Amino acid sequence: MKINYLGHSAFLFEISGKKILVDPFISPNELASHIKADEISCDYILISHGHGDHVADLVTIAKRTGAKVVSSFEIIDWCAKQGIENGHPMNLGGSWTFDFGTVKMVYASHSNSLPDGTYGGTAAGFIIKAEGKTIYYSGDTSLNQEMKLTGELNKIDYAFLPIGDNFTMGIDDAVIAADFIKCENIIGMHYDTFGFIKIDHDYAKKAFADAGLNLHLLEITDDISKAITL
Ligand code: NI
Ligand code: MN
Repeated sequence: MKINYLGHSAFLFEISGKKILVDPFISPNELASHIKADEISCDYILISHGHGDHVADLVTIAKRTGAKVVSSFEIIDWCAKQGIENGHPMNLGGSWTFDFGTVKMVYASHSNSLPDGTYGGTAAGFIIKAEGKTIYYSGDTSLNQEMKLTGELNKIDYAFLPIGDNFTMGIDDAVIAADFIKCENIIGMHYDTFGFIKIDHDYAKKAFADAGLNLHLLEITDDISKAITL
C-alpha cells in the first residue's frame, strides 16, 4: 500500500488498486495550499468524526468523485442530507470487507459533531487489513485503555496517531499509546496545522526514539511519486 500525507489528519491511501481518502481537510489548510482538493481522485472516503478539520472537503469531493463514504451511522445520515448517496454506515466494533480490504471501526475518545451542530455519533478510528498488513488510524483521540485491547486483538504494522496535543493526545501520551497498541512504526498526524497544535519536531523524534519507536513525520504532498510504501 502507498500513502500520501495531505496535511493535518488527511491521507490518501492506495490499497489493492483503490484510492482511499481519509479525513479530508485540505482547502482550508495553509500547510497544504499546494494540494488542489478539487483534483483529488478517490474511490472511498473514510471519516473518523465530523469536526471541520476532518470533513472540510468531504461534501465537494464525495459529490464530484462519487466515492463511497464510510463513517458513523449518524455522519452517513448527515451526508445523505447533503446529497451524498453513496454512503456506508458503520458503528464501533463493526467490520466490513470492501474490495480493497477489511475495515473495522474502533473506539476513539473524542467528541463528534458536524459543522452545522448535528450530532455525529461516537468518534472513531479504523483498523484496515489489506495486502497482508494491518494499519491503525486512530482519528482524534486521547490515550485510552481500549488501545490495549486494540493491540491485543491486532498485529498492527503501522499506526497513524495524533501528536499535536490540546485537542488530542500529545507526544508523550502518543508514545504510551504506541506501547498499548504494540506498534513500533508510528506516523504522526494532527500537528502544526494551527497554533494550538504546533509541536517541537526534535522533541517528538527524540521522545519516540528514546522509547525504541520510529516516528515518521511525512512531507505534505499529493505527488504519487513521493508516496510512502508501507
Ligand atoms: Ni476532532
Ligand atoms: Mn481534529
